[in-house]
Amino acid sequence: SSVLTNSLRPVILAAARSPRCEHAITRAPLSRQVVNRFVAGRERSDAIAVVSRLLDDGRYVSVDFLGENVTDAGSARATVHEYLSLIEELGKFSGTLAPVPRVEVSVKLSSLGAELNTDVAAENARTICAAAQSAGVWVTVDAEDHTTTDATLATVRSLRADFPWLGTVLQAYLRRTESDCLAFDDARIRLCKGAYNEPEAVAYIRREDVTASYLRCLDILCRGTGYPMVASHDPVVIAAAARMFCGVERFEYQMLFGIREPEQARLVAEGQHVRTYVPYGSAWYPYFMRRLAERPANLAFFLRSVVAR
Ligand code: FDA
Repeated sequence: SSVLTNSLRPVILAAARSPRCEHAITRAPLSRQVVNRFVAGRERSDAIAVVSRLLDDGRYVSVDFLGENVTDAGSARATVHEYLSLIEELGKFSGTLAPVPRVEVSVKLSSLGAELNTDVAAENARTICAAAQSAGVWVTVDAEDHTTTDATLATVRSLRADFPWLGTVLQAYLRRTESDCLAFDDARIRLCKGAYNEPEAVAYIRREDVTASYLRCLDILCRGTGYPMVASHDPVVIAAAARMFCGVERFEYQMLFGIREPEQARLVAEGQHVRTYVPYGSAWYPYFMRRLAERPANLAFFLRSVVAR
């Protein structure tokens, strides 16, 4: 299956960026169930219903309003407004930032206009952080493709001067990430493997190399003074993290909505903090395609549901 994943992955990830594929797939008679396996729904109310259920089950959550690569200022503003409404609703579940808020939002700077102007995106992110801080909600900035990494980390660094609790994502498949972990070893860092189609010049390609890099990065974060967040469904990573976390004061596990639910429940039962990433919104296409690319079984599930109709 890993041979299949390796050969299909770049094809699916290329389709994730193709407007023609997006047009075809978003208009295909997809059953709601297929998309809703990974996405909480289209509306904010769908996300809030899922959040409420997950919190009742002892999970923590990070809610993502789906959208990326926004190319006009008006859409970026609309995204900010959606986040402000979301934060207001999530604040009812939280109340205070201390010690660890159960609710968080995740945001992509490209959904706040970073492709148009990084300063505008940074100001939009600042507006979101200020609202989140007063609502007792955390914010973590997602990692996008490697061409955006420098700008994203520069924005996060400057926002952390005012919002030291602000988190960001680092992607272990990038060759640069060990040094980024050192630079951010006092920060709240969500470490993931990385979900984009990256060239070998900047990224490890073989699964074993990505996992090895992940463990080196996690080791750096565990020796730092920050708050490591292990965002992975990989049993090898989760077992290694359990060992490395000995002696680390604050840390958490994170997984995506709809993926390895029994494992998420098992960690909660063990007394661990598990934060589930809950995406919602109508711009589900690229997110959904990245999930398909991660696992041939997901692709087969998707194709069966399309063909069966
Ligand atoms: P890996 O892909 O090696 O999978 C290990 C095992 O986990 C599989 O064998 C299977 O059992 C299970 N599994 C994994 N993916 C599955 C799926 N889609 N469906 C069903 N089972 C699956 N990426 C990024 O580039 N930028 C970002 O900002 C983020 N943010 C983010 C937040 C959170 C909370 C998580 C958990 C992940 C991300 N990611 C991300 C995605 C991440 O980079 C990566 O693509 C996926 O987590 C898959 O990698 P794993 O480490 O889970 O292992």
